[in-house]
Amino acid sequence: MASAAREQWSSRTGFVLAAVGSAVGLGNMWRFSYLAAENGGAAFVIFYVGVTLVVGLPVLLAELVVGRGAQQSPIRALQHFGGPRWKLLGGVFVAAGFLILSYYGVIAGWTVRYGLIVLTEGFGAHAADRFGEIATGWDAFGFHVLFMAVTIGIVAGGVKRGIERTAMLLMPALFVIVAGLAVYATTLHGASAGYAYYLSADVSKLLHWSVLKDAAGQAFFSLSLGMGAMLTFASYLGRDQHLPNESLIIVGADVAIAFLAGLVVFPLIFALGLEARVEASTVGALFITLPQAFAEMGGVGRVVGFAFFAALVVGALTSAISLLEVVVASAIDGLGWSRRRAALVSGTAITLLGTPSAWSTDVLGVVDQIANNLFLLGGGLALSVFVGWFMRDPVAEARAGAHGVPWFFLWRWLLRFAVPIFLIFVLWFAVPETWHAIRGLFAS
Ligand code: PFF
Repeated sequence: MASAAREQWSSRTGFVLAAVGSAVGLGNMWRFSYLAAENGGAAFVIFYVGVTLVVGLPVLLAELVVGRGAQQSPIRALQHFGGPRWKLLGGVFVAAGFLILSYYGVIAGWTVRYGLIVLTEGFGAHAADRFGEIATGWDAFGFHVLFMAVTIGIVAGGVKRGIERTAMLLMPALFVIVAGLAVYATTLHGASAGYAYYLSADVSKLLHWSVLKDAAGQAFFSLSLGMGAMLTFASYLGRDQHLPNESLIIVGADVAIAFLAGLVVFPLIFALGLEARVEASTVGALFITLPQAFAEMGGVGRVVGFAFFAALVVGALTSAISLLEVVVASAIDGLGWSRRRAALVSGTAITLLGTPSAWSTDVLGVVDQIANNLFLLGGGLALSVFVGWFMRDPVAEARAGAHGVPWFFLWRWLLRFAVPIFLIFVLWFAVPETWHAIRGLFAS
């Protein structure tokens, strides 16, 4: 059971903001917009919200229940409820944390760099070309190291003084900035074409399995599911916490910010006539098109651009913290390391693992696919099977601190049947696609 010295959140708000901080990140602003652009706007948004509610929400609650029940980091928590065989799944979670943070730090480094550029010099005529200079090489690596150093420092500071304090300070600011930007976007001449693209569904894309697969991957990535991040954060909670309510708040905030980010990105792009680039969207879309938009807006573009990248940096930081915390908590619980040592050693290893992603956006894209399509969706599948079929009485565990919730049995049913069937269906397509991408990388 929990050691006497295990840290706890100091307040409910602290936990909720830290968990929302984990969920809201590059996934909401960078990944969501480029996937929505690629997959026909609203068609994607509809699927994404549906998958989030029917599949994401039950898995999120499952993670919170296991983490809070065990009061341990993922490997030990799964062992606690499932015996030694389930430790392996915890190990896969930790490996996923390593892998995701290794390239997440690189993209976060880009956002820091862009924020500094817009602050100090602004984007000039060749805004689009900047991406090529910034995205790879020593430049990218340097900012990745810088971002990782800050992340390591915060996680080393502890659950209360490091993670919780950062979230309490930064998350409200992020909400205000993104909401402010969305309001500003309504004033742009020509914004309506952006709203039209974003909010009307391209019916030809509906019911295409790849939209469903991207929506599922995005739902898991955006909610930080399938790798024990929410599980780890919940392990610092007391048994009086109402987990169903917390999971609803986390989902609500995450979807709201992603949706709002779309209300910023699409009007901006369309108002400035850059929509031709939207269709050809790739990993770099946001980092190529938006700086161009900011450059064309002149002085206002500097302010708006800075606000935008500041929000991205904040989102990235609070998410990276949760990724590192999965690894750090496991090293503390499993190896008996001090928090500072765990943060420094694992953080440095992850930074170095990011080297290939810092030198090639193709590598980065493939690692992103591996992490999402295999680790997060596979991890979510295994966890739902575990809680649905193997864990003894998860409903009793969920009920602690949450009496009279009518949907616990629906929750268990979803975890047992709907979630696994859906995830197997998605993995059926996602695994060969990922394999193809990996082979493509080695062939090139
Ligand atoms: N949810 C984060 C985002 O949307 O950017 C990314 C993430 C964080 C994924 C933590 C997984 C995770 F465990």
